Amino acid sequence: MNDLFARHRQVLPDWLALYYDEPLEITHGEGRHVWDAEGNRYLDFFGGILTTMTAHALPEVTKAVSEQAGRIIHSSTLYLNRPMVELAERIAQLSGIPDARVFFTTSGTEANDTALLLATTYRRTNTILAMRNSYHGRSFSAVGITGNKGWSPTSLSPLQTLYVHGGVRTRGPFAELNDREFIAACVDDLRDLLGHTRPPAALIAEPIQGVGGFTSPPDGLYAAFRKVLQEQGILWIADEVQTGWGRTGEHFWGWQAHGQSGPPDILTFAKGIGNGMSIGGVVARSEIMNCLDSNSISTFGGTQITMAAGLANLSYHLEHDLQGNARRVGGLLIERLRTVAAQLPGVREVRGRGLMIGVELVKPGTDEADPKSASAVLEAAREGGLLIGKGGGHNTSALRIAPPLSLTVAEAEEGAAILEQALRSAY
Ligand SMILES: Cc1ncc(COP(=O)(O)O)c(C=O)c1O
Repeated sequence: MNDLFARHRQVLPDWLALYYDEPLEITHGEGRHVWDAEGNRYLDFFGGILTTMTAHALPEVTKAVSEQAGRIIHSSTLYLNRPMVELAERIAQLSGIPDARVFFTTSGTEANDTALLLATTYRRTNTILAMRNSYHGRSFSAVGITGNKGWSPTSLSPLQTLYVHGGVRTRGPFAELNDREFIAACVDDLRDLLGHTRPPAALIAEPIQGVGGFTSPPDGLYAAFRKVLQEQGILWIADEVQTGWGRTGEHFWGWQAHGQSGPPDILTFAKGIGNGMSIGGVVARSEIMNCLDSNSISTFGGTQITMAAGLANLSYHLEHDLQGNARRVGGLLIERLRTVAAQLPGVREVRGRGLMIGVELVKPGTDEADPKSASAVLEAAREGGLLIGKGGGHNTSALRIAPPLSLTVAEAEEGAAILEQALRSAY
């Protein structure tokens, strides 16, 4: 065991999981590549959990951060903060939410916690609808809306949470139905649930479930849910922490695959916008955002250095049409992986869109999750020079592929070839 690993084990919590039998220390990165402490180079198809959104060591972001650090790093929300106002203006405009207000936090968890505070205060109830197989963060309130037992360390919660069907298309009681019937069955189930409970504050949902293994409902499910929710004034919170910023290629936000009934009431974001700097946040219509009648701050939320990074990163992203790149290169990658999967009985499904691709593994000839093979593929991919992630509510047997959105076609092909080798070695 190397020294740093031993020291990690000694001083950090046991539940802070590390990838790989011999964990990696990543020491630097450039573009879509990272290097470990021993000088090995890897193609990075996980981006530090979908967070390195544009590229590693993007000069535009590095310059903005160092220039801002040379002026001022932090002043708190007690003072006017130009980069924070500018980034809020841009996000408000991009969100699609009318009369939008933006509040910055330092993480996705805190963004969702804020959304829950707003929704429960606005609606004066602590009942929340969440999706089965969901993940929304690690705080006490966020684990209370987590529908994935691998990430739920306690059932104690400030909320009463009811879990709704529909986030997982190809498993569960409605899996055999076609898309239209699937949506109708989920809507019926939601209506039935609402008939048995006091009106909840909100439904919170990830348009594509991230930790859950990149699973999603058919397009339009959340639009159909929204119609039912609106009958009772129940809010819709879209957790865009993983799906935001064009990662899904076709849409800038994941909710837009369900946009027939308009934008969500509340949207939460984090991960990619800071390209690694800790930015999270909430967007909501002003009447919802302003429903709190006491002060609330986040000391670090919106601090100048993170906002400077966010502005530079977002500008680069939009100017280089990285959403279009995610659509094009992601489309090629998913097709390539589907061709490989068709030859391997252990691959149950290749799913996702844009540069958010899940590969679910099972024991060949069964529908049974295969977490051992998922770990073996992760190790073999690393051996081949490729970093990927894993997830999934079914014993963590989905591989997760989410490279920076600037991925080139050549890199996509190289990564797919390494992954193919890794899959073949496991089956
Ligand atoms: C959909 C979703 N929401 C919220 C979070 C929590 O974000 P953070 O880890 O920044 O607190 C995550 C983290 O993976 C996530 O995937």
